[in-house]
Amino acid sequence: MNTASPFQRRAFLTTIGTGAAAVCLAPLHEVQAHFTRRLEALTIDDRFVSLRNAYSLGENVTYFNHASIGTMPRLVQEARMKYLEVCETNPWLYMWGPAWDEQIDRTRATVAEYIGCEVDELAITHNTTEGFNTLAHGLPLGKGDEVLYSTMNHVGARVCWEHRAEEKGFTIRRFEFPIERASIMMSDEIVARYLEQIRPETRMLVIPHIDNMVGFRYPVKRLAAEAKRLGVEYVAVDGAQSIGLIPVNVGDLGVDFYATSTHKWVQSLKGLGLFYVRKELQEILHPMWVTWGQSRYQGSARIYEDYGTRNRPEMLTLEDCVQFQNKLGTEAKEAYLRTLHAHFRDRVDETEGLLWKSPRNWEDGCSIFAIEVLGSKSSDVSDFMFEKHGYVFRAFGGELNALRMSVYVMNTIEEIDRCIDLVKNEFLR
Ligand SMILES: Cc1ncc(COP(=O)(O)O)c(C=O)c1O
Repeated sequence: MNTASPFQRRAFLTTIGTGAAAVCLAPLHEVQAHFTRRLEALTIDDRFVSLRNAYSLGENVTYFNHASIGTMPRLVQEARMKYLEVCETNPWLYMWGPAWDEQIDRTRATVAEYIGCEVDELAITHNTTEGFNTLAHGLPLGKGDEVLYSTMNHVGARVCWEHRAEEKGFTIRRFEFPIERASIMMSDEIVARYLEQIRPETRMLVIPHIDNMVGFRYPVKRLAAEAKRLGVEYVAVDGAQSIGLIPVNVGDLGVDFYATSTHKWVQSLKGLGLFYVRKELQEILHPMWVTWGQSRYQGSARIYEDYGTRNRPEMLTLEDCVQFQNKLGTEAKEAYLRTLHAHFRDRVDETEGLLWKSPRNWEDGCSIFAIEVLGSKSSDVSDFMFEKHGYVFRAFGGELNALRMSVYVMNTIEEIDRCIDLVKNEFLR
């Protein structure tokens, strides 16, 4: 039995000389170099046609559900397998040793640059829900404090507050947001609707950057600034649907916390996320997990991701995901998604019986949008389209009664046209 403490094991490993460390890193560097070569060799045209084979979506699947869960590029899948293989040649060395520490740091630096924050402000978590649970658990909120959010909050950014409110003594208030006005609402109205809800006791405001039902793009920077002017102390943003999909510079938004899941639009492995915690607030936000030696991460958001053994091979792939997204190019990606958005909207507009329920402008929306098939239950349409034609999208019931489409770089105009035609033939005769 190994009776050495984790500290002793680490101390032993740090005695490995630089020559030995280089040997430990060589297999990893080989995988990374291979990935880089393959990525460089990938040619990408401005309509992303060459991308169709870059993913392993099933032949009979037309995937319009990236807002639920993304799909990893083949190149990243391969890199992940290779990291795992290297790790398994000596798990103790790679999981506990310093050999991969700097690689994880490099991954964090790449991701921090991608989302626009400092390295020490970024934790690599599992998902958005985890970030919000850390907040509800670890912020000094108590009696007399209110947490405010609207009905547009996803459960992942809501339930944690409800769960902790009684125990900690703070109150929550969830106000009705008129989702039915989505196609005509402008950002001025969004800001006004939030601001009119703020009261002297409102200490925390939680907002989505992009919501998951109609795909509004919230004017986060302006809203955060105005909320703070009215006395709100903390602004926390749910970025599950924004990072990767639109350019985001978290550090420039003037918000305090930003949680996201990279397994949607950054196309990472499932179960990876990011949590930004503004530097000044790290002293007051307690981590949700406690483990040995955590004090070494004092002064860094790493403290929020430290709960013992992590899946290092998987964490490493985040850097590859970001490189893949960078290869697509922010502007080229936006231009292409804008084209898909406009085409879908125009086809819906010209089709009697279909109703566009999302922002009409790209600037207020994104490639997530809701479409009602008048006279039909949304789940009936989505079930039919999946079972008969392999289309994957989500149905929202209730008053929205809409198909939530979320299209991405490998989707095509032809897929959209076929989708509209099939729905028309089956449900709008
Ligand atoms: C807006 C939004 N927030 C939070 C979540 C929760 O994400 P996760 O389960 O990755 O934490 C989702 C998931 O779809 C979402 O759409």
